[in-house]
Amino acid sequence: MTGQALMSNGSGIVIFGGTGDLAYRKLFPALYNLHVLEELPTDYQIIGIGRRDYSRWDYLTIVKEWLQKYSRVKYLEERFTDFSERIHYYKMDFDKAEQYPDLLAYFDEIKLQGEVIFYYAVAPQYFLPITKNLSIRNCRLRECKVIVEKPFGDDLTSAHALSKELKQSFLPGHVYYIDHYLGKEMILNIMTIRFFNSIFKGVWNKDFIESVQINAFETVGVESRGGYYDESGALRDMMQNHLFQILSIVAMEEPTAMESEEIKAAQLKVFQDLKPIVPTEIGKHLVLGQYAGYRQEDKVAPDSQTETYAAMKLLIDNERWQGVPFYIRTGKKLFSRESEVIIQFKQTAKEAEGNILIIKIQPDEGVYLKFNIKKPGKENGVQVVKMDFCQSCILENRINTPEAYERLLKACMNSDQSLFSKWDQIELCWNFIDQAIDSYQKYSGALYPYQAGTAGPKEADHLLLHDQHYWIEAEMFLEG
Ligand SMILES: NC(=O)c1ccc[n+]([C@@H]2O[C@H](COP(=O)([O-])OP(=O)(O)OC[C@H]3O[C@@H](n4cnc5c(N)ncnc54)[C@H](OP(=O)(O)O)[C@@H]3O)[C@@H](O)[C@H]2O)c1
Repeated sequence: MTGQALMSNGSGIVIFGGTGDLAYRKLFPALYNLHVLEELPTDYQIIGIGRRDYSRWDYLTIVKEWLQKYSRVKYLEERFTDFSERIHYYKMDFDKAEQYPDLLAYFDEIKLQGEVIFYYAVAPQYFLPITKNLSIRNCRLRECKVIVEKPFGDDLTSAHALSKELKQSFLPGHVYYIDHYLGKEMILNIMTIRFFNSIFKGVWNKDFIESVQINAFETVGVESRGGYYDESGALRDMMQNHLFQILSIVAMEEPTAMESEEIKAAQLKVFQDLKPIVPTEIGKHLVLGQYAGYRQEDKVAPDSQTETYAAMKLLIDNERWQGVPFYIRTGKKLFSRESEVIIQFKQTAKEAEGNILIIKIQPDEGVYLKFNIKKPGKENGVQVVKMDFCQSCILENRINTPEAYERLLKACMNSDQSLFSKWDQIELCWNFIDQAIDSYQKYSGALYPYQAGTAGPKEADHLLLHDQHYWIEAEMFLEG
């Protein structure tokens, strides 16, 4: 085992998976930005853990290359020099319980004695063993927090087992379930748009809204993550967490205060009000697909039944949303990379179209509104026009807007849970998804093929045709 000590006191973050994609592409750039903006305590230390036989110098060289590629704030050699003094590399195997006492001794050696955040940037099968092995550090008696990456379990039972272990090992409120969508600028903006504009606040209900659509499309396939993805699939990888979280923010009642606990309670109520899907009717609520060529991807089973596309129709059984369908879809190898929320308002007259509001989450961030005006000139016809605000097109906004992981790491350091999922939410979401998967396997089982570069399987259209709705392709509006 290697690890060079740098003498300093205090707190820090320990990244399990310090040589992984997430650490290099997201966590180090986020920490570097916080360092440059002087938002890290002066003696804050960063310990990356991996299996590779790196010296500290090797590690810093790689971290530097990634920062040059991915840092939001301009990379500066002199700032990297002082940032690099915070960084350590430690080699170990998470599976080997006998290596943990040495790891803990190493923390003492580098005087990591204040508050420590353990970041699980590792494959989910390591969450339990790491937690069990860390318990010898007595985290319930010390200042430790833990950030757990998604996926949090692969069903309700495994999520329960993990949650139980975490509760035994860490103090209440010290476990941070990350859903990086919650740190995104436009997700935070949904509440502002909803509650700080009377033109939207008053009409955000069944009387004015015809349907809601939430999309998260990717153009890439599974790339190097075939092994993980083939065990997971679109429902578990995207829907149970990111899309359900967005749904809850779009649909929640106005929180009694804009504080973490009140917002979480309002979101939870949405999950409690989700109308259970009658198992025999699952075909009218869920469509799963798989892109052509998926089974030939590296580390994917040649007869894989894993879905790379999922579209779901949900209903929320409460006063505000009675009868309004929420259509949510996600998939890989689709025609476009984009995530957005689309609010389709009711048509008020035969000759006019219903208004459409699009909250663009990524890659472009902004707000689009389609509305009706009189056709210019002598005629009395109606013309559809748009207002399109692109937040990310403004250079200053791009430079000054923190990345999701930057926000989330800072929030955890400040003990702010508002940008994280909560266990009771995770539990309800798993319960819903588990039941949907179970019903689908019993009463449908169809896995519709689709070609790369399309909008997914045609069969997904049928979810909406029952209600005489259609998928609103945001791209069509945004370019037009
Ligand atoms: N990548 C993303 O953009 C992203 C986004 C959202 C969530 N996540 C989640 O973040 C987690 C990590 O994803 P990733 O993409 O970073 O994975 P990855 O690139 O495969 O990295 C895995 C990391 O775990 C380490 N590791 C694996 N087995 C180990 C063992 N037995 N002992 C010690 N170290 C071990 C690897 O170290 P060595 O390479 O040195 O062996 C590497 O640092 C996953 O839960 C994933 O779902 C990732």
